[in-house]
Amino acid sequence: MAVIPWPVKPARHPGSVAASAPRDAAASRVAAAPSDEPAAMAAALIQSRQTILPKRLGAPGPTGAELAQILGAAAHAPDHGQLVPWRFVLVPAPARPALAEVFAQALLERDPEASPEQAEQAREKAHRSPVLLLAVVDAQRGDPEVDLAERMVSAGCAVQNMLLMATAQGYGSALTSGKALKAAGLRALFQLLPSEQAVCFISIGTVVSRKAVRVRPAASSYVSTLQPGRGVVPGF
Ligand SMILES: Cc1cc2nc3c(=O)[nH]c(=O)nc-3n(C[C@H](O)[C@H](O)[C@H](O)COP(=O)(O)O)c2cc1C
Repeated sequence: MAVIPWPVKPARHPGSVAASAPRDAAASRVAAAPSDEPAAMAAALIQSRQTILPKRLGAPGPTGAELAQILGAAAHAPDHGQLVPWRFVLVPAPARPALAEVFAQALLERDPEASPEQAEQAREKAHRSPVLLLAVVDAQRGDPEVDLAERMVSAGCAVQNMLLMATAQGYGSALTSGKALKAAGLRALFQLLPSEQAVCFISIGTVVSRKAVRVRPAASSYVSTLQPGRGVVPGF
């Protein structure tokens, strides 16, 4: 499939963030793309993603072609050294009973007093949402100089690409974690290497119901600027 480059804003004036961008042939080409429409589209897509928990995700799930597009989006994540330190394991319906047993077993290991109803609730979680994937990160694969934090960032970018693609296709999605991710039974079921860790599940499906969107933090609350002679000051 042809890759259509997203238009890049040209450098505008000294002092702007883009002012240090190289003024090469590519930069002059993109200078001819004045439209803000792509940025508005990107903002609309990013802002329309919200967590839709698996219990609120129903059929139909993505088609095979849509799922391939979602999975392919992960490959566009930044990846220092091209290690591909993450992978995803699909859990189709016929494999859900085995996962359900792992969830119940993990609960009973943590809490031997758990009731049969609680064990059944744990099992039921494996059967929610049409598409279920486990995200796995390898702490060692490839170059040992690339530490776990960088690998996790790359995995997070890959996952976000997938969530945004699913959102663009009109599906709801969620990430879920939980103590079962570290259970020996889950590690065995997914055949994890000793260097791998299960990071979270990704659920994708049709939105059955949704909560009100949450208020997002203002960028000024999490951005500061290093200023000469003044140190780090709030805002930007
Ligand atoms: C790695 C990861 C694991 C998560 N696990 C859970 C979970 O187990 N249960 C849950 O309700 N939400 C889980 N979430 C979703 C967050 O709760 C959710 O993103 C947050 O409430 C913000 O909602 P939003 O995605 O709509 O902005 C997880 C998010 C991340 C990034």
